[in-house]
Amino acid sequence: MACFFRRTIAAKLGRTLQHPEDVFIPAITATPVLKKQQSPDFRLSVSTLRIDGILPSNEDIQLQTENLANQLKRDVVVEEISAEKGVIHFHVNRELLAEKVLEPFKNGADDKYGLNSDLLTPLKRGTTLVEFSSPNIAKKFHAGHLRSTIIGNFVANLKESLGNSVIRMNYLGDWGMQFGLLGAGFEKFGCIEKLKENPLQHLFEVYVRVNKEVEQNEALMQAARDFFRQLEQHDDEAVSLWQQFREITVQEYQHVYKRLGVHFDVYSGESFHRDQAQTVVRQLQDRGLLGTSAKGMGVVDLSPDGDMSNVCTVLRSDGTTLYITRDLAAAINRQEKYSFDEMIYVTDKSQANHFRQLFQILLAMGHPWADRCRHLPFGLVRGMKTRTGDVVFLEDVLDEARARMLHNMSQSHTTKELENPEDTAEKVGICALIVQDFKGPLQSDYKFDWAQMLQAQGDTGVFLQYTHARLCSLLRTNKGVDEGEFNPSLLRETSSINILQHLLRYDEVLLQSAQDLQPKHLVNFLIKLSHFIASAHRDLPVKGSPPDVAQTRLRLFRGACSVLANGMRILGVTPVQKM
Ligand code: ARG
Repeated sequence: MACFFRRTIAAKLGRTLQHPEDVFIPAITATPVLKKQQSPDFRLSVSTLRIDGILPSNEDIQLQTENLANQLKRDVVVEEISAEKGVIHFHVNRELLAEKVLEPFKNGADDKYGLNSDLLTPLKRGTTLVEFSSPNIAKKFHAGHLRSTIIGNFVANLKESLGNSVIRMNYLGDWGMQFGLLGAGFEKFGCIEKLKENPLQHLFEVYVRVNKEVEQNEALMQAARDFFRQLEQHDDEAVSLWQQFREITVQEYQHVYKRLGVHFDVYSGESFHRDQAQTVVRQLQDRGLLGTSAKGMGVVDLSPDGDMSNVCTVLRSDGTTLYITRDLAAAINRQEKYSFDEMIYVTDKSQANHFRQLFQILLAMGHPWADRCRHLPFGLVRGMKTRTGDVVFLEDVLDEARARMLHNMSQSHTTKELENPEDTAEKVGICALIVQDFKGPLQSDYKFDWAQMLQAQGDTGVFLQYTHARLCSLLRTNKGVDEGEFNPSLLRETSSINILQHLLRYDEVLLQSAQDLQPKHLVNFLIKLSHFIASAHRDLPVKGSPPDVAQTRLRLFRGACSVLANGMRILGVTPVQKM
């Protein structure tokens, strides 16, 4: 694997430059593979060594690079070393390359490939709490919630595969004046049967209707206020109705999350912290952090000069708390309960300021762990529509993805052999959705496009699934080919070397994604891997080749298949065996 070569190169540098070899490890990277020509395997950027103070930064960098390249010794592992524009290239022995990269797949798939790399050790951070999805009861589950769901799931999967213990939390919008409206609305327009039959639909209808009606109906508005006050005062009847809304909603969501392959360890919500929020207000007061605005609201002054030019409201003039007050209480409560080492909030970028203020206030309150909290923002999705119009429920999106995919698949003859085409269509459709979403930087807005994301050719999730299924089929049909011996010296073609070199980069790609929490590094790695696999299918036939060639190529395909599947699983996708 990559570690073996990186270590060997680092040891050479360590001996030559008289430094412990570990300091060189992060500076040595596997070279991105170009399709047409064979490239060197590893590279070292000399400027990194200058920044680290290992080499003087006042000398001519090109001369320095050449001198260092000349001093380093070639051997049986690293056969060639060359210098170019501040970079040293390393070319490793071809047979060793194949042997080391494919060693983990000797006995089958290896779902730990790359994960034990020493590059990833510093990222193991104990307990990570990831808060994601977090829809609001009775309101629309919009594209932003879908993005939060799949991005949060990716972050949780990634952290988990790196060896952290992960808490997946859903923080429901289950408190606030909207429940006054919903309660009063339900008493007027609601129907228990309909609620049981199609809860999300019915709650949403009631909510939309009551919002419209209160515009002209002052009595209803008063009823809503009364209902919310009753809730706040723990009135049994009001609380029991609210509880039903909540429970039924959670059950429905659990069902849809399951289709997406997402689960939560904790369903928390704003309601959990309504009383603690008042405690937080008192703590702010005790610490002298609570001020009063001209309008009589409780505020925390966050301006650098303390001149109230930037304040955050934490208490309404009627004494009720706000979204941020509940978030303060929730964060403190989570730290007490889970002692997380890091906490990641996944929401759209419009809440960036909210989280900045949240962390700032927590720090001011004397909670240094707020520095280990992070907001992962993402951009807007435009034009997410289904055949029936705007998306209101998550299930509609999944149904549409499945239906469209099923239609596309019916064009292909292999679909007839599938045991459960619907299930396959669902998995492929979800993969398409995820890949479209993860291809670019999360911060960017993007345009949702069913046709484009479901293309079989092109850089789509369908292409990833297709590549995986094709590899599985190759491995299935050649199961009996075991007379030949694996012989690493037989993998010399550009198509083989491309895959091997690309696999060398896997741990670096995981590192990148774990550092900036952007899935694009992993997605683009897997897409590129799939392109290399497509060339290999063409150039490296298994059928009809001598037994040792067949056996060796199968090992290469098995390794590629295994890494593709591992990467897809981290993205939150279930790889299909047939399609
Ligand atoms: N329910 C909120 C919304 O739909 C998202 C909650 C985000 N998390 C938080 N701790 N504030 O906008």
